[in-house]
Amino acid sequence: MLNLKLYFLDKRQQIDAVFHRILGTAPQPKTRIVEAMRYALMSGGKRLRPILCLAACETVGGNAELALPVACALEMVHTYSLIHDDLPAMDDDCLRRGRPTCHIAFDDATAILAGDALLTLAFETLSSKEIRKKVPVEHWLDIISVISVAAGYKGMVEGQMRDMLAEQRRSLLLSELEELHLLKTGALIEASVCSGALLGQGSFDQIASLKVYSKNIGLAFQVTDDILNVEGDPLIMGKGAGTDQHRCKSTYPSLLGLSESKEAASRLISRAIDSLARFDHNADPLRAIATYIINRKK
Ligand code: IPE
Ligand code: IPE
Ligand code: MG
Ligand code: MG
Repeated sequence: MLNLKLYFLDKRQQIDAVFHRILGTAPQPKTRIVEAMRYALMSGGKRLRPILCLAACETVGGNAELALPVACALEMVHTYSLIHDDLPAMDDDCLRRGRPTCHIAFDDATAILAGDALLTLAFETLSSKEIRKKVPVEHWLDIISVISVAAGYKGMVEGQMRDMLAEQRRSLLLSELEELHLLKTGALIEASVCSGALLGQGSFDQIASLKVYSKNIGLAFQVTDDILNVEGDPLIMGKGAGTDQHRCKSTYPSLLGLSESKEAASRLISRAIDSLARFDHNADPLRAIATYIINRKK
């Protein structure tokens, strides 16, 4: 039986070792920008997106070690998005991953630049010789394309834009909120799973099933984030609670109530697990991650 805690621990150690190699370890003095990048990146995130990438690679029978730089690039994109998401011009939050947000610990300009630098570092990492040598060029370019589309104006950035615009409206329709969530959170989660499967040289049919999986967990992940924002413990989550209501955001709980939101998240996770039927025990980590997504407390 898979022990998901140990699985996460093992993968997190491998991911963090790459970050340390790239950005150095804490006591080494660095430039201000590297200090800010390191502050945001090395602060106890769950590393869900890189772990999904590694697990998807293993699911299709690939070697997860090859996928490590891609996994790390995904976490860099995610961390940049969190730094910018917390800025006063966006969600204006002061707590993230159990610490003051990057702009509070440094300043707004440094936080903006640290986000920019992590985003560009992601693409530096994705185009590094280390990957170029080991992955067929077609797959490698597909992976860069999948991640850049998901992170940009057709994916996460569009989702964030809609999230900001929605603050000025009274309430979104459920279908509008679902689309928003699929863009702001689902797109990068889908790219994490698909890039891992591409790296593992999964077949067309395998990747199609994994897309269904990732769309469902991506939406369930954000629905759960909305639920935790209502009833989660800030000490466990390492970020504020009640902030969505304070900023008049449309969320699943605000539109459906807590218990219907939980049912919706469970239905999405059942669909995600069903979509893995074609895979053997190599997909057990993805199955366990799906369940973890709705049961998590942080
Ligand atoms: C938080 O993501 C932002 C959302 C997209 C909901 P995570 O909950 O994965 O945050 P970390 O990486 O663990 O801090
Ligand atoms: C964050 O969404 C999404 C991105 C950073 C792309 P939220 O604003 O809902 O997430 P938290 O609750 O601040 O982590
Ligand atoms: Mg936000
Ligand atoms: Mg936020």
